[in-house]
Amino acid sequence: MEVVIVPDAKAGGELIAEAMAQLLRHKPDALLGVATGSTPLPIYEALTAKVRAGGVDASRARIAQLDEYVGLPAEHPESYRSVLRREVLEPLGLGMDAFMGPDGTAEDVLGACASYERALTEAGGVDLQLLGIGTDGHIGFNEPCSSLASRTRIKTLTEQTQVDNARFFGGDIEQVPHHVITQGIGTILEARHLVLLATGEGKADAIAATVEGPVAAVCPASALQLHPHATVVVDEGAASKLK
Ligand code: F6R
Repeated sequence: MEVVIVPDAKAGGELIAEAMAQLLRHKPDALLGVATGSTPLPIYEALTAKVRAGGVDASRARIAQLDEYVGLPAEHPESYRSVLRREVLEPLGLGMDAFMGPDGTAEDVLGACASYERALTEAGGVDLQLLGIGTDGHIGFNEPCSSLASRTRIKTLTEQTQVDNARFFGGDIEQVPHHVITQGIGTILEARHLVLLATGEGKADAIAATVEGPVAAVCPASALQLHPHATVVVDEGAASKLK
């Protein structure tokens, strides 16, 4: 695992966007796995700026979703499909034909999970997977004590994650869906390059456990230690509890 400490979130976004741009220069139709939440926004802004300045052509990029709320209509502004359309696809000039994700509104949720796993495999696998991290060490929505071998499946959000995500629903925890479909930890580990960004002191405990703790299901992100090509980018705040 490679750990890179950057001065701030903007620098982290720039560094990771450049890694994505380099991948696209080498493999224009790369499958980019993307995360939602606040942390990756500087990455998407920096990558968009590079595309608009002509520094990289993203017109053949493909985008794969990490996780999705269950039961939230796809057109709801906070469904992750809507968020990614707004924050990633449209700014990069990509249509929904470039997008793949699990169907959070499927009646057969288990079938939707299995079919997303198949779709990822048939697409050739994720080239670069962006990850954020929860204050409890979750990646995707693999909450603490998720199996490190888990595949795409339905999970229940912990109360802490519901509280953390209420800000996207007008601060009203009652509006936060309780269930999500998430790529499993085993699924995530199959991406060819994992890049996790964490910013702010609120993530410092989770980063210390990820980087310096044992590989253990209580900190799902510690599974990155098992990956042959994992990069953890942290600002000073998120790095503050590293030894
Ligand atoms: C969401 C996801 C989550 C977030 C995590 C951190 O797609 O993968 O694991 O990355 O909850 O969220 P923020 O960045 O909002 O602190």
